[in-house]
Amino acid sequence: MTSTSDGDNTEKNLSVGRALLPPFANDANAKMQSEEIFCMAIEACPVGIVMIDRAGNIVFVNTEMERLFGYARDEMLGQTVDILLPANLGARHAEHRRQFAAHPSSRTATGRNLAGRRKDGTEFPIEVGLNPIQTRGGSLVLGVIVDLSERNRIERLKDEFVATVSHELRTPLTSIAGALGLLVGNAGGTLPSPAVRLITIAHANSQRLVRLVNSILEMEKIESGKVVFVLERVEVRALVVQAIEANRGFAEGYGVRIRLDAASEAGEMRGDPDWLVQVVTNLLSNAIKFSPPDEEVVVAIEKRGGNIRISVRDHGHGVPDSFKARIFEKFAQADASDARINGGTGLGLSIVKQIVTRLGGTVDFGDAPGGGAIFHVELPCWEPAAEPESAVA
Ligand SMILES: Nc1ncnc2c1ncn2[C@@H]1O[C@H](COP(=O)(O)OP(=O)(O)OP(=O)(O)O)[C@@H](O)[C@H]1O
Ligand SMILES: [Mg+2]
Repeated sequence: MTSTSDGDNTEKNLSVGRALLPPFANDANAKMQSEEIFCMAIEACPVGIVMIDRAGNIVFVNTEMERLFGYARDEMLGQTVDILLPANLGARHAEHRRQFAAHPSSRTATGRNLAGRRKDGTEFPIEVGLNPIQTRGGSLVLGVIVDLSERNRIERLKDEFVATVSHELRTPLTSIAGALGLLVGNAGGTLPSPAVRLITIAHANSQRLVRLVNSILEMEKIESGKVVFVLERVEVRALVVQAIEANRGFAEGYGVRIRLDAASEAGEMRGDPDWLVQVVTNLLSNAIKFSPPDEEVVVAIEKRGGNIRISVRDHGHGVPDSFKARIFEKFAQADASDARINGGTGLGLSIVKQIVTRLGGTVDFGDAPGGGAIFHVELPCWEPAAEPESAVA
Protein backbone atom coordinates (compact mmCIF):
# COMPACT_ATOMS: atom_id res chain seq x y z
CA MET A 1 0.00 0.00 0.00
CA THR A 2 1.33 3.46 -0.78
CA SER A 3 0.90 6.43 1.55
CA THR A 4 -1.38 9.11 0.22
CA SER A 5 -0.36 11.97 2.51
CA ASP A 6 2.12 12.70 5.30
CA GLY A 7 -0.44 12.36 8.00
CA ASP A 8 -2.04 8.95 7.42
CA ASN A 9 0.99 6.63 7.80
CA THR A 10 0.63 5.89 11.48
CA GLU A 11 -2.63 4.05 11.01
CA LYS A 12 -1.65 1.84 8.09
CA ASN A 13 1.11 -0.35 6.81
CA LEU A 14 3.36 1.59 4.50
CA SER A 15 4.96 0.40 1.27
CA VAL A 16 8.05 2.34 0.31
CA GLY A 17 10.29 1.04 -2.46
CA ARG A 18 9.79 -2.70 -2.32
CA ALA A 19 9.12 -3.43 1.35
CA LEU A 20 5.78 -3.51 3.09
CA LEU A 21 6.41 -2.00 6.54
CA PRO A 22 4.58 -1.68 9.82
CA PRO A 23 3.27 1.80 10.67
CA PHE A 24 5.88 4.53 11.14
CA ALA A 25 5.87 8.02 12.52
CA ASN A 26 7.09 9.58 9.29
CA ASP A 27 8.11 8.81 5.71
CA ALA A 28 11.81 9.37 6.28
CA ASN A 29 12.01 6.63 8.89
CA ALA A 30 9.95 4.33 6.77
CA LYS A 31 12.10 4.93 3.72
CA MET A 32 15.28 4.21 5.68
CA GLN A 33 13.88 1.01 7.08
CA SER A 34 12.61 -0.05 3.67
CA GLU A 35 16.05 0.45 2.15
CA GLU A 36 17.64 -1.45 5.01
CA ILE A 37 15.31 -4.40 4.48
CA PHE A 38 15.92 -4.29 0.74
CA CYS A 39 19.73 -4.29 1.21
CA MET A 40 19.56 -7.08 3.76
CA ALA A 41 17.45 -9.17 1.40
CA ILE A 42 19.99 -8.73 -1.41
CA GLU A 43 22.89 -9.51 0.93
CA ALA A 44 21.18 -12.57 2.39
CA CYS A 45 20.29 -13.97 -1.06
CA PRO A 46 21.69 -17.51 -1.39
CA VAL A 47 22.64 -16.79 -5.02
CA GLY A 48 25.38 -14.52 -6.34
CA ILE A 49 24.13 -11.11 -7.53
CA VAL A 50 26.38 -8.96 -9.69
CA MET A 51 25.79 -5.84 -11.77
CA ILE A 52 28.05 -4.77 -14.58
CA ASP A 53 28.07 -1.64 -16.71
CA ARG A 54 28.24 -1.49 -20.50
CA ALA A 55 32.03 -1.63 -20.46
CA GLY A 56 31.88 -4.89 -18.50
CA ASN A 57 33.01 -3.42 -15.20
CA ILE A 58 31.60 -4.73 -11.95
CA VAL A 59 29.56 -2.06 -10.14
CA PHE A 60 27.76 -4.18 -7.54
CA VAL A 61 28.19 -7.57 -5.85
CA ASN A 62 26.42 -9.16 -2.89
CA THR A 63 27.87 -11.28 -0.07
CA GLU A 64 27.26 -14.59 -1.86
CA MET A 65 29.54 -13.39 -4.69
CA GLU A 66 32.40 -13.12 -2.16
CA ARG A 67 31.71 -16.67 -0.94
CA LEU A 68 31.39 -18.11 -4.45
CA PHE A 69 34.44 -16.49 -6.01
CA GLY A 70 36.76 -16.07 -2.99
CA TYR A 71 37.33 -12.34 -3.64
CA ALA A 72 36.63 -9.60 -1.10
CA ARG A 73 34.00 -7.18 -2.34
CA ASP A 74 36.53 -4.39 -2.90
CA GLU A 75 38.67 -6.69 -5.01
CA MET A 76 35.77 -7.15 -7.44
CA LEU A 77 34.24 -3.66 -7.59
CA GLY A 78 35.60 -1.65 -10.50
CA GLN A 79 37.28 -4.70 -12.05
CA THR A 80 36.24 -6.15 -15.38
CA VAL A 81 33.83 -9.09 -15.11
CA ASP A 82 36.44 -11.19 -16.96
CA ILE A 83 38.16 -11.89 -13.62
CA LEU A 84 35.17 -14.11 -12.77
CA LEU A 85 35.28 -16.08 -16.02
CA PRO A 86 37.52 -18.89 -17.23
CA ALA A 87 40.37 -17.52 -19.34
CA ASN A 88 39.05 -19.13 -22.54
CA LEU A 89 35.66 -17.42 -22.15
CA GLY A 90 37.04 -14.02 -21.23
CA ALA A 91 38.07 -13.27 -24.80
CA ARG A 92 34.59 -14.07 -26.16
CA HIS A 93 32.72 -12.32 -23.39
CA ALA A 94 33.12 -8.84 -24.86
CA GLU A 95 31.21 -10.08 -27.93
CA HIS A 96 28.49 -11.65 -25.74
CA ARG A 97 28.13 -8.29 -23.94
CA ARG A 98 27.86 -6.46 -27.23
CA GLN A 99 25.12 -8.83 -28.41
CA PHE A 100 23.27 -8.50 -25.12
CA ALA A 101 23.38 -4.69 -25.36
CA ALA A 102 22.00 -4.90 -28.91
CA HIS A 103 19.12 -7.20 -27.84
CA PRO A 104 18.60 -6.65 -24.13
CA SER A 105 16.16 -9.17 -22.70
CA SER A 106 15.96 -11.39 -19.67
CA ARG A 107 17.55 -14.78 -20.30
CA THR A 108 19.25 -17.71 -18.63
CA ALA A 109 22.67 -18.90 -19.70
CA THR A 110 23.45 -22.49 -18.85
CA GLY A 111 25.33 -25.36 -20.38
CA ARG A 112 27.85 -28.05 -19.75
CA ASN A 113 30.77 -25.71 -20.19
CA LEU A 114 29.57 -22.57 -18.43
CA ALA A 115 31.84 -22.01 -15.45
CA GLY A 116 32.95 -19.34 -13.01
CA ARG A 117 36.60 -18.80 -12.01
CA ARG A 118 37.53 -18.30 -8.36
CA LYS A 119 40.33 -16.05 -7.13
CA ASP A 120 42.56 -19.14 -6.72
CA GLY A 121 42.02 -20.01 -10.40
CA THR A 122 39.78 -23.05 -9.81
CA GLU A 123 36.60 -23.26 -11.88
CA PHE A 124 33.07 -24.34 -10.92
CA PRO A 125 29.90 -24.95 -12.97
CA ILE A 126 27.35 -22.13 -12.93
CA GLU A 127 24.01 -21.06 -14.34
CA VAL A 128 23.57 -17.32 -14.99
CA GLY A 129 20.32 -15.40 -15.22
CA LEU A 130 20.72 -12.05 -17.02
CA ASN A 131 18.45 -9.04 -16.92
CA PRO A 132 18.91 -5.58 -18.46
CA ILE A 133 18.42 -2.68 -16.05
CA GLN A 134 17.97 0.99 -16.94
CA THR A 135 19.24 3.40 -14.27
CA ARG A 136 19.60 7.17 -14.33
CA GLY A 137 23.33 6.60 -14.68
CA GLY A 138 22.99 4.37 -17.75
CA SER A 139 22.16 0.78 -18.58
CA LEU A 140 23.45 -2.07 -16.45
CA VAL A 141 23.24 -5.83 -16.66
CA LEU A 142 22.09 -7.74 -13.60
CA GLY A 143 23.56 -11.24 -13.33
CA VAL A 144 22.22 -13.86 -10.92
CA ILE A 145 24.74 -16.65 -10.48
CA VAL A 146 23.84 -20.11 -9.18
CA ASP A 147 26.57 -22.57 -8.24
CA LEU A 148 25.69 -25.90 -9.89
CA SER A 149 28.41 -27.99 -8.17
CA GLU A 150 26.03 -29.66 -5.73
CA ARG A 151 23.30 -30.16 -8.33
CA ASN A 152 25.81 -31.74 -10.71
CA ARG A 153 27.12 -34.00 -7.94
CA ILE A 154 23.60 -35.26 -7.25
CA GLU A 155 23.01 -35.74 -11.01
CA ARG A 156 26.19 -37.83 -11.17
CA LEU A 157 25.06 -39.92 -8.19
CA LYS A 158 21.72 -40.53 -9.92
CA ASP A 159 23.46 -41.52 -13.16
CA GLU A 160 25.72 -43.90 -11.24
CA PHE A 161 22.72 -45.38 -9.48
CA VAL A 162 20.87 -45.92 -12.74
CA ALA A 163 23.97 -47.48 -14.30
CA THR A 164 24.25 -49.79 -11.30
CA VAL A 165 20.60 -50.77 -11.53
CA SER A 166 21.03 -51.34 -15.22
CA HIS A 167 24.08 -53.54 -15.07
CA GLU A 168 24.00 -55.13 -11.66
CA LEU A 169 20.28 -55.73 -11.39
CA ARG A 170 18.81 -56.12 -14.84
CA THR A 171 21.25 -58.70 -16.15
CA PRO A 172 20.97 -61.22 -13.28
CA LEU A 173 17.23 -60.60 -13.03
CA THR A 174 16.74 -61.43 -16.68
CA SER A 175 18.65 -64.65 -16.30
CA ILE A 176 16.72 -65.61 -13.14
CA ALA A 177 13.44 -65.01 -14.99
CA GLY A 178 14.72 -67.05 -17.96
CA ALA A 179 15.85 -69.97 -15.79
CA LEU A 180 12.56 -70.04 -13.88
CA GLY A 181 10.70 -70.00 -17.21
CA LEU A 182 12.67 -73.03 -18.33
CA LEU A 183 11.94 -74.86 -15.06
CA VAL A 184 8.22 -74.13 -15.42
CA GLY A 185 8.44 -75.59 -18.94
CA ASN A 186 10.01 -78.78 -17.49
CA ALA A 187 13.40 -78.15 -19.11
CA GLY A 188 14.98 -79.39 -15.88
CA GLY A 189 12.86 -82.55 -15.75
CA THR A 190 9.33 -83.10 -14.50
CA LEU A 191 8.77 -81.39 -11.18
CA PRO A 192 6.21 -82.29 -8.50
CA SER A 193 3.12 -80.12 -8.85
CA PRO A 194 3.63 -78.15 -5.55
CA ALA A 195 7.09 -77.16 -6.86
CA VAL A 196 5.61 -76.13 -10.23
CA ARG A 197 3.11 -73.96 -8.44
CA LEU A 198 5.80 -72.19 -6.42
CA ILE A 199 8.13 -71.78 -9.37
CA THR A 200 5.29 -70.37 -11.47
CA ILE A 201 4.74 -67.67 -8.84
CA ALA A 202 8.49 -66.92 -8.70
CA HIS A 203 8.62 -66.79 -12.51
CA ALA A 204 5.69 -64.35 -12.79
CA ASN A 205 7.16 -62.07 -10.16
CA SER A 206 10.66 -62.11 -11.59
CA GLN A 207 9.17 -61.12 -14.96
CA ARG A 208 7.32 -58.30 -13.23
CA LEU A 209 10.58 -57.08 -11.70
CA VAL A 210 12.30 -57.19 -15.10
CA ARG A 211 9.48 -55.08 -16.54
CA LEU A 212 9.72 -52.60 -13.68
CA VAL A 213 13.50 -52.20 -14.04
CA ASN A 214 13.15 -51.86 -17.82
CA SER A 215 10.46 -49.17 -17.49
CA ILE A 216 12.51 -47.16 -14.99
CA LEU A 217 15.58 -47.36 -17.22
CA GLU A 218 13.58 -46.42 -20.29
CA MET A 219 12.06 -43.42 -18.53
CA GLU A 220 15.46 -42.31 -17.26
CA LYS A 221 16.96 -42.63 -20.71
CA ILE A 222 14.25 -40.52 -22.35
CA GLU A 223 14.18 -37.87 -19.62
CA SER A 224 17.93 -37.43 -19.55
CA GLY A 225 17.85 -36.63 -23.27
CA LYS A 226 20.18 -39.53 -24.08
CA VAL A 227 17.78 -40.99 -26.62
CA VAL A 228 18.24 -39.96 -30.21
CA PHE A 229 14.97 -40.23 -32.13
CA VAL A 230 15.53 -40.97 -35.78
CA LEU A 231 12.73 -39.31 -37.73
CA GLU A 232 11.91 -41.24 -40.83
CA ARG A 233 9.01 -42.21 -43.04
CA VAL A 234 6.85 -44.76 -41.20
CA GLU A 235 4.08 -46.73 -42.90
CA VAL A 236 1.53 -46.54 -40.09
CA ARG A 237 -0.61 -49.53 -40.96
CA ALA A 238 2.37 -51.89 -41.07
CA LEU A 239 3.65 -50.49 -37.80
CA VAL A 240 0.29 -50.93 -36.06
CA VAL A 241 -0.07 -54.49 -37.39
CA GLN A 242 3.41 -55.27 -36.07
CA ALA A 243 2.48 -53.94 -32.61
CA ILE A 244 -0.81 -55.88 -32.63
CA GLU A 245 0.96 -59.13 -33.51
CA ALA A 246 3.55 -58.53 -30.80
CA ASN A 247 0.77 -58.17 -28.22
CA ARG A 248 -1.51 -60.98 -29.34
CA GLY A 249 -0.04 -63.49 -26.90
CA PHE A 250 -0.45 -61.02 -24.03
CA ALA A 251 -4.08 -60.42 -25.07
CA GLU A 252 -4.79 -64.16 -25.20
CA GLY A 253 -3.59 -64.40 -21.59
CA TYR A 254 -6.49 -62.07 -20.70
CA GLY A 255 -8.96 -63.74 -23.08
CA VAL A 256 -9.10 -60.49 -25.10
CA ARG A 257 -9.07 -60.10 -28.90
CA ILE A 258 -7.32 -57.26 -30.75
CA ARG A 259 -8.29 -56.14 -34.22
CA LEU A 260 -7.45 -53.38 -36.62
CA ASP A 261 -10.57 -51.43 -37.62
CA ALA A 262 -11.34 -52.32 -41.24
CA ALA A 263 -12.00 -48.64 -42.05
CA SER A 264 -8.41 -47.76 -41.08
CA GLU A 265 -6.63 -45.59 -43.61
CA ALA A 266 -3.15 -46.19 -44.95
CA GLY A 267 -0.69 -43.37 -44.53
CA GLU A 268 2.84 -42.41 -43.73
CA MET A 269 3.88 -40.50 -40.67
CA ARG A 270 7.02 -38.87 -39.53
CA GLY A 271 8.47 -40.68 -36.52
CA ASP A 272 10.91 -43.17 -35.08
CA PRO A 273 9.51 -46.67 -35.79
CA ASP A 274 11.06 -48.43 -32.77
CA TRP A 275 9.74 -45.88 -30.31
CA LEU A 276 6.36 -45.74 -32.07
CA VAL A 277 5.92 -49.49 -31.64
CA GLN A 278 6.64 -48.89 -27.98
CA VAL A 279 3.92 -46.21 -27.86
CA VAL A 280 1.28 -48.46 -29.46
CA THR A 281 2.37 -51.40 -27.30
CA ASN A 282 1.95 -49.40 -24.08
CA LEU A 283 -1.55 -48.30 -25.14
CA LEU A 284 -2.46 -51.85 -26.20
CA SER A 285 -1.19 -53.38 -22.99
CA ASN A 286 -3.42 -51.03 -20.98
CA ALA A 287 -6.44 -51.64 -23.18
CA ILE A 288 -5.91 -55.40 -22.81
CA LYS A 289 -5.30 -55.33 -19.05
CA PHE A 290 -8.37 -53.22 -18.35
CA SER A 291 -10.72 -55.16 -20.67
CA PRO A 292 -13.07 -57.80 -19.34
CA PRO A 293 -12.48 -61.28 -20.84
CA ASP A 294 -14.12 -61.96 -24.21
CA GLU A 295 -14.11 -58.29 -25.14
CA GLU A 296 -12.17 -56.80 -28.00
CA VAL A 297 -9.67 -54.01 -28.34
CA VAL A 298 -9.96 -52.05 -31.59
CA VAL A 299 -7.16 -50.04 -33.16
CA ALA A 300 -8.01 -47.46 -35.83
CA ILE A 301 -5.94 -45.24 -38.12
CA GLU A 302 -7.32 -42.00 -39.46
CA LYS A 303 -5.93 -38.99 -41.35
CA ARG A 304 -6.75 -35.62 -39.78
CA GLY A 305 -5.49 -32.57 -41.60
CA GLY A 306 -1.71 -32.83 -41.74
CA ASN A 307 -1.65 -35.49 -39.02
CA ILE A 308 -2.29 -39.18 -38.64
CA ARG A 309 -4.19 -40.40 -35.62
CA ILE A 310 -3.89 -43.85 -34.09
CA SER A 311 -6.72 -44.72 -31.68
CA VAL A 312 -6.85 -47.63 -29.25
CA ARG A 313 -10.27 -48.38 -27.85
CA ASP A 314 -11.29 -50.88 -25.19
CA HIS A 315 -14.50 -51.96 -23.44
CA GLY A 316 -13.23 -51.81 -19.86
CA HIS A 317 -14.34 -49.68 -16.93
CA GLY A 318 -12.81 -46.52 -18.43
CA VAL A 319 -10.65 -43.95 -16.66
CA PRO A 320 -12.28 -42.62 -13.48
CA ASP A 321 -13.01 -38.86 -13.64
CA SER A 322 -11.06 -38.22 -10.43
CA PHE A 323 -7.92 -39.73 -11.99
CA LYS A 324 -8.04 -38.11 -15.44
CA ALA A 325 -5.83 -35.13 -14.56
CA ARG A 326 -3.03 -37.35 -13.22
CA ILE A 327 -3.06 -40.15 -15.76
CA PHE A 328 0.21 -39.17 -17.51
CA GLU A 329 2.15 -38.67 -14.28
CA LYS A 330 4.93 -41.07 -13.37
CA PHE A 331 3.88 -44.03 -11.18
CA ALA A 332 0.27 -42.81 -11.22
CA GLN A 333 -2.39 -45.51 -11.08
CA ALA A 334 -6.11 -44.97 -10.60
CA ASP A 335 -6.39 -47.70 -8.06
CA ALA A 336 -3.71 -49.30 -5.90
CA SER A 337 -5.26 -52.64 -6.75
CA ASP A 338 -4.42 -52.02 -10.45
CA ALA A 339 -0.78 -52.65 -9.58
CA ARG A 340 -1.54 -55.78 -7.62
CA ILE A 341 -3.95 -57.32 -10.13
CA ASN A 342 -2.25 -56.28 -13.37
CA GLY A 343 1.36 -55.99 -12.27
CA GLY A 344 1.89 -52.49 -13.70
CA THR A 345 4.12 -49.74 -12.41
CA GLY A 346 2.25 -46.64 -13.63
CA LEU A 347 5.03 -45.67 -16.03
CA GLY A 348 3.58 -46.83 -19.36
CA LEU A 349 1.57 -43.70 -20.17
CA SER A 350 4.21 -41.25 -18.97
CA ILE A 351 6.64 -42.98 -21.34
CA VAL A 352 4.05 -42.65 -24.14
CA LYS A 353 3.65 -38.94 -23.41
CA GLN A 354 7.40 -38.31 -23.37
CA ILE A 355 7.98 -40.14 -26.65
CA VAL A 356 5.03 -38.61 -28.51
CA THR A 357 5.86 -35.10 -27.34
CA ARG A 358 9.48 -35.48 -28.39
CA LEU A 359 8.30 -36.67 -31.81
CA GLY A 360 6.22 -33.51 -32.19
CA GLY A 361 2.84 -35.14 -31.62
CA THR A 362 0.10 -35.27 -29.01
CA VAL A 363 -1.62 -37.93 -26.93
CA ASP A 364 -5.03 -37.67 -25.31
CA PHE A 365 -7.88 -39.89 -24.24
CA GLY A 366 -11.58 -39.92 -23.54
CA ASP A 367 -14.57 -42.05 -22.65
CA ALA A 368 -15.39 -44.37 -25.53
CA PRO A 369 -19.01 -44.27 -26.72
CA GLY A 370 -20.80 -47.20 -25.13
CA GLY A 371 -18.21 -47.59 -22.33
CA GLY A 372 -14.49 -48.13 -22.03
CA ALA A 373 -11.54 -45.86 -22.72
CA ILE A 374 -10.16 -44.57 -26.00
CA PHE A 375 -6.61 -43.24 -26.37
CA HIS A 376 -5.46 -41.18 -29.37
CA VAL A 377 -1.93 -40.51 -30.57
CA GLU A 378 -1.53 -37.90 -33.30
CA LEU A 379 1.68 -37.35 -35.24
CA PRO A 380 2.55 -35.33 -38.33
CA CYS A 381 2.21 -36.95 -41.76
CA TRP A 382 5.38 -37.57 -43.68
CA GLU A 383 6.06 -34.77 -46.16
CA PRO A 384 8.96 -35.86 -48.35
CA ALA A 385 9.63 -32.55 -50.05
CA ALA A 386 9.55 -30.45 -46.89
CA GLU A 387 11.38 -32.67 -44.47
CA PRO A 388 14.41 -34.87 -44.97
CA GLU A 389 15.04 -37.72 -42.55
CA SER A 390 16.64 -36.38 -39.41
CA ALA A 391 17.53 -37.16 -35.83
CA VAL A 392 16.33 -35.28 -32.78
CA ALA A 393 18.28 -35.68 -29.57
N1 LIG B 1 -7.42 -48.26 -21.04
C1 LIG B 1 -7.51 -47.93 -19.75
N2 LIG B 1 -8.68 -48.11 -19.08
C2 LIG B 1 -8.79 -47.77 -17.77
N3 LIG B 1 -7.79 -47.23 -17.04
C3 LIG B 1 -6.62 -47.05 -17.66
C4 LIG B 1 -6.41 -47.36 -19.03
N4 LIG B 1 -5.14 -47.05 -19.36
C5 LIG B 1 -4.58 -46.58 -18.24
N5 LIG B 1 -5.45 -46.57 -17.21
C6 LIG B 1 -5.20 -46.09 -15.84
O1 LIG B 1 -4.01 -45.31 -15.87
C7 LIG B 1 -3.02 -45.89 -15.03
C8 LIG B 1 -1.65 -45.58 -15.57
O2 LIG B 1 -1.41 -46.30 -16.76
P1 LIG B 1 0.08 -46.63 -17.14
O3 LIG B 1 0.09 -47.35 -18.44
O4 LIG B 1 0.88 -45.41 -17.00
O5 LIG B 1 0.53 -47.60 -15.95
P2 LIG B 1 0.21 -49.14 -15.68
O6 LIG B 1 -0.46 -49.75 -16.87
O7 LIG B 1 -0.51 -49.23 -14.39
O8 LIG B 1 1.67 -49.75 -15.49
P3 LIG B 1 2.79 -49.95 -16.65
O9 LIG B 1 2.24 -49.43 -17.94
O10 LIG B 1 3.95 -49.18 -16.16
O11 LIG B 1 3.02 -51.43 -16.67
C9 LIG B 1 -3.37 -47.35 -14.96
O12 LIG B 1 -2.83 -47.99 -13.79
C10 LIG B 1 -4.91 -47.28 -14.90
O13 LIG B 1 -5.32 -46.92 -13.59
MG1 LIG C 1 0.43 -49.42 -18.79
